[in-house]
Amino acid sequence: MKILALETTCDETAAAVITDRLEVLASTVASQDALHERFRGVVPEIASRAHVERILPVIDETLRQAKLAAADLDAVAVANRPGLAGSLLVGLAAAKALALALDVPLVAVHHLHAHLYACRLAYGEAVFPAVGLVASGGHTSLFHCLGPLEFALLGGTIDDAAGEAFDKVASLLGLGYPGGPAVERAARGGDRRAYRFPRSFTDDASRLEFSFSGLKTAVRHQLAAASPGFDPAKVSRQQVADLAASFQQAVVDVLVTKCTQALEQFGGHNLCVGGGVAANALLRSELEAAARQTGFRVFIAPHELCTDNAAMGAIAIERLKAGLVEELDLDIQPGLMR
Ligand code: KG4
Ligand code: ZN
Repeated sequence: MKILALETTCDETAAAVITDRLEVLASTVASQDALHERFRGVVPEIASRAHVERILPVIDETLRQAKLAAADLDAVAVANRPGLAGSLLVGLAAAKALALALDVPLVAVHHLHAHLYACRLAYGEAVFPAVGLVASGGHTSLFHCLGPLEFALLGGTIDDAAGEAFDKVASLLGLGYPGGPAVERAARGGDRRAYRFPRSFTDDASRLEFSFSGLKTAVRHQLAAASPGFDPAKVSRQQVADLAASFQQAVVDVLVTKCTQALEQFGGHNLCVGGGVAANALLRSELEAAARQTGFRVFIAPHELCTDNAAMGAIAIERLKAGLVEELDLDIQPGLMR
């Protein structure tokens, strides 16, 4: 059995072909970074228009790489929640059209569950049950993953997502876009102890929530102190590096602390981590250090499965096997539902 999975929740147009044995036959991602770069953030209208232009070529290229024709597909899966409304609609319309034309089942994918399933795809069945952290540009959420089809939301950010904070701080500091890799690069030459930034809710283990907007404002205040008018060009390279390193350390401290608190609360032994921010080298190494110290096992999605991709839509195989297929009136759910 072979399924085509589509992913257009935000600003990557992606497709993948996956077999029922979870082999990824092809996976294509058309990044829109170059389109959003000058705005230093995703512009929803630009994102949905670019999806419209790219979705068919991306599907064609993915089928070509998998050496398959559309008629060889046994099902079509699509991420229909959560995400940007206009972006979600493009993937959903394409998936419905294909499912109707090919007369194959349509399967719905929850994008955040898929980010966690990336760990299952990469590391096998031992991953679940687990506590799961999704840290991306749009979300920072903790889940209790009881199995590949059972995810309970434990809590999330009450304001900005971790990746969004990286993007905004990169913009403040005059670094590139997307902000995560740019801040990570700048932080390499910096002192992570130079500035003491806030770490929200870390002293309240019962509160499995995140807040990053105060941290972003704290970086802004430090930048203003160093350069009235927030001009990063007037701040020394060393100061920018120190700000980036101190900020990155604060985000990583919060994420690692909240994961360990969730594990303690749920008596879990496994932690799985996905989403674009999981590509961050400091986060990866500190999670691994915490796992060694505390005795849990950590599964972090491989780099190519961290940022948005359709291969993680392999979770649709689990749904298909369980008979969880959709009617053609399937709708998008832009907001995060439990
Ligand atoms: O999962 P993703 O591709 O899209 C969403 O579902 O939001 O995540 C994108 C986010 C961006 O905010 C980007 O800055 C962040 O992931 N990111 C990183 C790194 N690579 C990407 N954040 C920190 N360190 C990185 N190396
Ligand atoms: Zn994502």
